[in-house]
Amino acid sequence: MSQSTPLQLPDATTDKFGRPMRDLRISVTDRCNFRCTYCMPAEIFGERYEFLPKPEILNFEEIERLARIFVGLGVNKLRITGGEPLVRAQLPALIERLVTIVGVEDVALTTNGFLLAKMAADLKQAGLQRITVSLDSLDEEVAKKMSGRPYGPEKTLEGIEEAARVGLAPIKIDAVVQRGENEHTIVDMARRFRGTGHIVRFIEYMDVGNRNGWKLDQVVTAMEIIERIGEEFPLEPVEPNYRGEVATRYRYKDGSGEIGVIASVSMPFCGDCTRARLTTDGRLVTCLFASGGKDLKSLLRGGASDEEIAAAISAVWSNRSDRYSELRESNTDWSGGDAGGSEGEKRKKIEMYQIGG
Ligand code: GTP
Ligand code: 5AD
Ligand code: SF4
Ligand code: SF4
Repeated sequence: MSQSTPLQLPDATTDKFGRPMRDLRISVTDRCNFRCTYCMPAEIFGERYEFLPKPEILNFEEIERLARIFVGLGVNKLRITGGEPLVRAQLPALIERLVTIVGVEDVALTTNGFLLAKMAADLKQAGLQRITVSLDSLDEEVAKKMSGRPYGPEKTLEGIEEAARVGLAPIKIDAVVQRGENEHTIVDMARRFRGTGHIVRFIEYMDVGNRNGWKLDQVVTAMEIIERIGEEFPLEPVEPNYRGEVATRYRYKDGSGEIGVIASVSMPFCGDCTRARLTTDGRLVTCLFASGGKDLKSLLRGGASDEEIAAAISAVWSNRSDRYSELRESNTDWSGGDAGGSEGEKRKKIEMYQIGG
C-alpha cells in the first residue's frame, strides 16, 4: 500500500495548560464479548441492549482520514480500543491503513484477549507493533465473576501466548484491582508473569461512567499494591519511559522483569495528559471523564474539507482544560470519606466501553 501524505498544518495544538495532543485512542466498536462488572454490567447490558447501529459507526475510510488529520496536528501514537476491538469485522484491514500514515510512530491495541489466539498472526501481518491485554485474575472464579461471563482466564492466556509467538511485543497485561474482588490474586499475577518479558500493570479502579456504582473504598491504592508484591518479590522504582506515561514502573531487584501501577485515583497524571479519544460514532473526547464530545462524523459526512475538520479539532483541543482525576483527588478524603466528582455527582459521563480506557 502506498504511503499517504501527512496534512501540513501549523503545530498550533496545545490546550489551556500547554499540553500538546500526541496520542489518539480510536474506539472501533462499542460491543464486547465480556460484561466486566466495572464496565458493562450484565444486568444493564443484556440481550436487548441497543448498541450503535451500523450506519452510525465510522467506516475504515473515515477512521483513516480522521487519523491522518490528527497526525497532521501532532499525534504520533495510535491505540485501537473498543468495546472489544477484535469483535470488529476485518480489523486487520484498518491496521494496514493506519500503519501507512507518515508520522505515526506507534500503533498498539487494547484487547480482552478472548479472540486473540486466532487473530494475533493476522494483526502482526497487518503491521500492528504491540498489544495490551486486559486480564484481572488468574483465578478461575474471580476471572469469571469480574468478566461477567462464564469464561476463566484460559482463552486470554492462550491469546497472550500466541501474541508472544508472533512477536507482538512488548506485551502488557492490565489488571483492574477492586477491593474485595481480586486484590488477593495480585501477587499470583506478578508471580505468573515474572521472567516472561511481559509487563503486568495494576490499575486502580476508577469512577469512569455512571453505571458501575464506584465507591472510594473499592479502590486498592498503587502503594498498597506495590507493598504487597514487594513483600514477596523485592521491587525498586524505574524512571518512566517517556513523559506522561500513565503507568509508574517498578522492577524486580533480582532482574526478572518489571511491573507497573496505574494510580489514576491516588496519584493522578493529568498534568502530562496528551490523549485524545475518538468514539465509535466519531466524537472527539478529550478526557476519560468527559460527557458528550465534539461530533466529527457530521463534519466528515457533511462534506467538510480536511482543513475544516482540522480546524474543528484544534478549536476543541485549544479550549481543553480537563483534569478530572486531579480535581477528584484534591476533593478526596482518604481517611474514609467521600471522593470528589464521584458519589453524589450526577453529571452524565461517557462510559468506558465507548472509549476503551
Ligand atoms: P503505553 O503506550 O503502552 O505506555 O500505554 P499506556 O500506558 O498509555 O496504557 P494504556 O493506554 O493501555 O492505558 C492503560 C490504562 O490506564 C487504561 O486502560 C486506563 O484504565 C488507564 N488510563 C489510560 N489513559 C488514561 C487517562 O488519560 N486518564 C486516566 N485517568 N486513566 C487512563
Ligand atoms: N477503572 C479502571 N480501569 C478500567 N477499565 C475499564 N473500566 C475501568 C475502570 N472503571 C480498564 C479495562 C481495560 C481497559 C480498557 O480499561 O480493564 O484494561
Ligand atoms: Fe469489554 Fe473491556 Fe469493558 Fe471488559 S472492560 S466489558 S473487556 S470493553
Ligand atoms: Fe487525562 Fe482526563 Fe485522565 Fe486527567 S482524568 S489524565 S485529563 S483523561
